[in-house]
Amino acid sequence: MNVVERLAALRELGAYDGGINRALLTPPERSARELFASWARASGFTVTQDRVSNVFARRAGARADQKPILVGSHLDTVPTGGAYDGAYGVAGALCALELLDSRGIRTAHPLEAVAWAGEEGSRFPLGCLGSSVFAGLNGEAEVMAIVGDDGVRFSEALASSIGGLLDGVPMRGDRNVAAYIELHVEQGPVLEDRGLSLGIVTAIAAQRRLRATVSGRSGHAGTVPMAMRRDALCAAAELVLAFERAARDAGDAVATVGRMIVEPNGTNVVPGRVTFSLDLRSPDEAKLDTIEAQLGEAIGRVERARGVAVELEALERRTATPMTPQLRDAIARAIDAIGERYADVPSGAGHDAMSLGKIVPAAMIFVPSIGGASHVREEQTADRDLLLGVEALAGAIVEVDRTVD
Ligand code: GLV
Ligand code: MN
Ligand code: MN
Repeated sequence: MNVVERLAALRELGAYDGGINRALLTPPERSARELFASWARASGFTVTQDRVSNVFARRAGARADQKPILVGSHLDTVPTGGAYDGAYGVAGALCALELLDSRGIRTAHPLEAVAWAGEEGSRFPLGCLGSSVFAGLNGEAEVMAIVGDDGVRFSEALASSIGGLLDGVPMRGDRNVAAYIELHVEQGPVLEDRGLSLGIVTAIAAQRRLRATVSGRSGHAGTVPMAMRRDALCAAAELVLAFERAARDAGDAVATVGRMIVEPNGTNVVPGRVTFSLDLRSPDEAKLDTIEAQLGEAIGRVERARGVAVELEALERRTATPMTPQLRDAIARAIDAIGERYADVPSGAGHDAMSLGKIVPAAMIFVPSIGGASHVREEQTADRDLLLGVEALAGAIVEVDRTVD
C-alpha cells in the first residue's frame, strides 16, 4: 500500500461530520495503532510498544551495535482533525522503510517507524506526551497521573481494553535513538504560495500551554443586580482579550484560547466558575515572557475590579527547537538527488521533533497543505506531494545513516 492508500484507510477511524476525532487512548486511536502494527508486521518489521503506548516498527540494520534512526509522527488528532496531521508522518515512515526494502538498500543503523502517543494534547493536557516521556522530558509516573478532560486518569485509560495498550505487542525495553526525522504536512500556506512541494524545517517555535480557572459567585440571572455580581465568565472574557492584545502588541507571537468550560453553564444562572486553556507561541522566547507578564497584570486588575479569584497553572513550557544543521543538509542532498526544489521554513506548529530534538539530532520535512488549512476537516495535501515527501524521506534516511554515529 502506498501512503495515499494508507491515509485513506486511517481517515475512516474516528471520522464524523466535523472531521476526525481520534483522541489518545480512545477506540478509534487504538484502531489506528492496530492498523499501523498490522501493516508493519505484514512488511516483516518487528513491532514493539512502550509503557505510554508509543508504537515502534523496526527494520534491522547492517550493524547490530548501532542505535536506531527513528522516523515518525503521531496518530491522534484534535477534536476536529484532518486526515494528514500526524497520520501522514506515521504512514509515510512505514512507506519509506518499505521503499528501502524494495530497492534493496541496507542501512548501517536499524530504522524504526514510530507512532508517538498523544502529540496533540487533546484529551490529556500535555502535548507531545509520548515523545516527551521517551525523551525523558517528563517522568513516566508524572504522566501516568494526568487526568484527561473526561475525568479519566492516563494510567486507567492505558489499562482499558477498548482504548489502551495493544494486546500481544511486546514492550520496547530501551530508549536508544541515534537521530530522528519527521515527515509532516506544513499546516500553513508558505510552500503552496511559493509553488514548492518540499520544505526543510529550520526551527520549531517556543510554546507554552497554561490553564486559567476563574472563580466568582454563581447566582440567579434575574435577581442579582449588576453591581453586586462576581461573574466568572465576564472576568474570563476580559482576560481572553488581554491575552490576545498582549500577543498582537508583542508581534511575531500567537495566542489562542481554544477551550473554555463555563459552570454551571445555565442560560439563567450567573457563571460561577470558568476554566480555559491558553496556548502561546513565538520563535522568540522573550516575547512569551512579556506576554505572560502582561497576562499576570491583567489578572491582578480583573481580580480587583470584579472580586473574582484567578488561578493560573503552567501545563507545558517548551523552548524553541532548532533543527540539526547536519541533518538539514542531509535532507537537502536527498531532495537535490530527486531533482526537486525546496524552501527552508520555520514551524509555528508543535511536533514530536521538539521532544526528540532536545536529546538527539533531529530534522523535519514538510509537504504543502492546500490553502494552508489544518486542525480542520478541510486539511488536504495533493497525492503527488504526499508521494514526493515519502521519496524525500527515504533518501534522507540513507543520507542521515551516513551522517550520524
Ligand atoms: C500541534 O499540532 C500543535 O502545534 O499544537
Ligand atoms: Mn502534527
Ligand atoms: Mn496537530
